[in-house]
Amino acid sequence: MTSAAGRVFEMRPIGVVRSPYQDRAQVPKGPCAEHRAEGVLELWPELEPGLADIEGFSHLFVLWVFDRTEGYDLVARVPLDEETPHGVFASRSPRRPNPIGLSVVELLGRDGPRLRVRGVDMLDGTPILDLKPYLSSIPESSLRRGWLAEAEARG
Ligand SMILES: C[S@@+](CC[C@H](N)C(=O)[O-])C[C@H]1O[C@@H](n2cnc3c(N)ncnc32)[C@H](O)[C@@H]1O
Repeated sequence: MTSAAGRVFEMRPIGVVRSPYQDRAQVPKGPCAEHRAEGVLELWPELEPGLADIEGFSHLFVLWVFDRTEGYDLVARVPLDEETPHGVFASRSPRRPNPIGLSVVELLGRDGPRLRVRGVDMLDGTPILDLKPYLSSIPESSLRRGWLAEAEARG
């Protein structure tokens, strides 16, 4: 069996995010932050056939690259809880060993290779790695929100 350690996986973006946010300071942050901003997921025209049937899904997972961060912190304070540091894999911090972002957006419509969506938290021009339909079979009652629940209760 080959070891996964040290392997490098090369990926090419499938398109870019068109977002109202040019700067990180513009993206809502903190415990009460809501992501209602509209944007466009602009796929390269040659990939358009891969969007067939996507209109039937209300929400999508977007996998993307934090292309405007460098380096990572294994433990850090985050805007959702300034008081206590948390491990990077227990947070959504942009400063991660693999700078991959994951957002759930609502699909509003499609114009060819362009998907109009609501709920972007990415900067304009962010490279998109992949799209998948959002499906969750986990009942709300089984979900635990870890340290986030305590931070939200504190306000
Ligand atoms: C806390 S992260 C969460 C992102 C995603 N929802 C996730 O969970 O992976 C959101 C922050 O990433 C930053 N951000 C957005 N697009 C970025 C990019 N292309 N490069 C670096 N940072 C970015 C913004 O400051 C935004 O507030």
